[in-house]
Amino acid sequence: MRNIYSNIFKPNKQILTKTIYYLKKNKIVALPTETVYGLAGNAYSSKSIKKIYRLKKRPNKNPLIIHYLNLKSASEDINFNSNLKKLYNYFCPGPITFVLKIKKNSKIDKMARANLNTVAIRFPKNNIARKILKKIDFPLAMPSANLSSQISPISAYDVVDEFKKNIKIVINGGNSKIGLESTVVDLTSKPKILRPGIITKEKIQSIIKKKVYYQKKIKLLKAPGGLTKHYSPGIPIVMNANYAPVEHAHITFGMRYKNKINSFNLSKKSNLNEAAKNLYKIFRKIKKLGYKKIYISKIPRKNIGIAINDRIKRAAN
Ligand code: TXA
Ligand code: MG
Repeated sequence: MRNIYSNIFKPNKQILTKTIYYLKKNKIVALPTETVYGLAGNAYSSKSIKKIYRLKKRPNKNPLIIHYLNLKSASEDINFNSNLKKLYNYFCPGPITFVLKIKKNSKIDKMARANLNTVAIRFPKNNIARKILKKIDFPLAMPSANLSSQISPISAYDVVDEFKKNIKIVINGGNSKIGLESTVVDLTSKPKILRPGIITKEKIQSIIKKKVYYQKKIKLLKAPGGLTKHYSPGIPIVMNANYAPVEHAHITFGMRYKNKINSFNLSKKSNLNEAAKNLYKIFRKIKKLGYKKIYISKIPRKNIGIAINDRIKRAAN
């Protein structure tokens, strides 16, 4: 039988060299990060960026996150401010993305930032991503490696399920440690959370010693990925459901739920980090099993639970 996963590779020296060669040739590869897997391409190359949008079927108005090794390498493209420096020193490399004003002479491709004068930047912690960033002299545009509006991938197998053989190199870094996308914080004026993640609003406030707000009504141009349907398994979702009919899937949280054939527990121990890590995995599993509707029990709105509820709400949209 043909191996449908033959484009997945272990991150050995040989494959990393080939990956770097591909990136230099403006080809697209899939890489692990600590949050979710990403589709990586040269952020300075319009050729690479066009390929990413085409592969993902992503609307042009939704900008990409640009990934750097460190603040020094980002300094060519963005203007620093004091909030950035504080948050960078505390959290980076790590699962947080900053929206900042772009420098006039920045080389970041226009399409990658959807023609905006701002850009989202991130410094991934994942060792494989960092090894690659060390060996190239351009940053990587890296959206989550899923088709637009679908669930983010948390394993190399998820990426191939999504794109089949359309990506020649998918590096296997195991399951993503966090399993939900990075926190996106807009630092262009008063700090605002555009997308909640494992790094919470309260934690950010405690570092910059300023009040931080959630962006409430997300304007289409400010955070295009924030609006409409997103992170969706493609079947209807009912939130805050204590019970689900047997013919439908029930996603539960905590030990008070009995294990039934149609139930999928995010975390028996009621651990929110574990639930975050399991959410997309369980979405994919339920879809593969052919369920037509998902009921999800209540999940506490604290810590990463805020991000979990955010993704479920958008998926239910
Ligand atoms: O964890 C992550 O951030 C993953 C990994 C692969 O790094 N990447 C990721 O990228 O989630 P993506 O493209 O799926 O989500 C990027 C989000 C979108 O919601 C987009 O609208 C927002 O960042 N974004 C990008 N540039 C922006 C900008 N200039 N202003 C506001 N939001 C922006
Ligand atoms: Mg995405």
